[in-house]
Amino acid sequence: MEKSLDFYFSKKESLAVRKPIVAGNWKMNKTIADALKLVEGIKQLFKDEQKVDVVLCPPFTALADVGEAIKDTELYLGAQNMHAEKSGAFTGEVAADMLRDLGCHYVILGHSERRQYFKETDEIVNKKAKAALAAGLHPIVCVGELLAEREAGRMEAVVGTQVRGSLAGLSANDMLKTVIAYEPVWAIGTGKTASPAQAQEVHAFIRKVLKEKFDEPVAQSVRIQYGGSVKPSNAKDLFHQPDIDGGLIGGASLEAQSFVDIVRGAL
Ligand code: PGA
Repeated sequence: MEKSLDFYFSKKESLAVRKPIVAGNWKMNKTIADALKLVEGIKQLFKDEQKVDVVLCPPFTALADVGEAIKDTELYLGAQNMHAEKSGAFTGEVAADMLRDLGCHYVILGHSERRQYFKETDEIVNKKAKAALAAGLHPIVCVGELLAEREAGRMEAVVGTQVRGSLAGLSANDMLKTVIAYEPVWAIGTGKTASPAQAQEVHAFIRKVLKEKFDEPVAQSVRIQYGGSVKPSNAKDLFHQPDIDGGLIGGASLEAQSFVDIVRGAL
């Protein structure tokens, strides 16, 4: 099945009708066999694909097999990272075209683990986002503050800088193809979720930054996911906030039932 994302973005009337998007970030987990078992479970449990875009982001090693397993479904394939250059002497790296080649539609960029452990800056994330878009991939650009930054009252300064820096120089059209994931670092893998009101406040702030950078229609059309300890028990409350359009799910995406229950929270 040919999966086109452009139907969503090319219809003028669909601007500001934000289809929810839930992505599973499997991080450095799952052999190919385990990945395929998880995909089978998700395929059996989930039947409402037309109402929410569901993206599976396995490690590089399982992308080809997972891509093959979902090619006749509405599930989308995503990668967790890529290099900004098109090709060349970058041992161990993977380029955007290679991900397209495997059937990827999405790529997660600037996840806080990449920023923290691999020293990715907004400038690097920005280069990667431009390279992803040039190759026809939809970037999922992650932003989020540390606990100390929140406690120091710097949340807006930090998140605003990340949004502006990571998305610098993107055209409005590119912005509409880009997803933002707000993931407060203190909520990732900690079991501490932002409350729906806390998350909503930041999502509304991100839309304000997008309005300043672009305009109101663009700000209202970009999908912004929440990430950080999303579970079946809290997904619905988070995803039903006015400015939250689904989630980026780590730990709870590693098991089919919990992931599908979370996806259903976006319906
Ligand atoms: P978590 O991770 O759901 O395990 O908190 C979210 C993420 O890192 O994207």
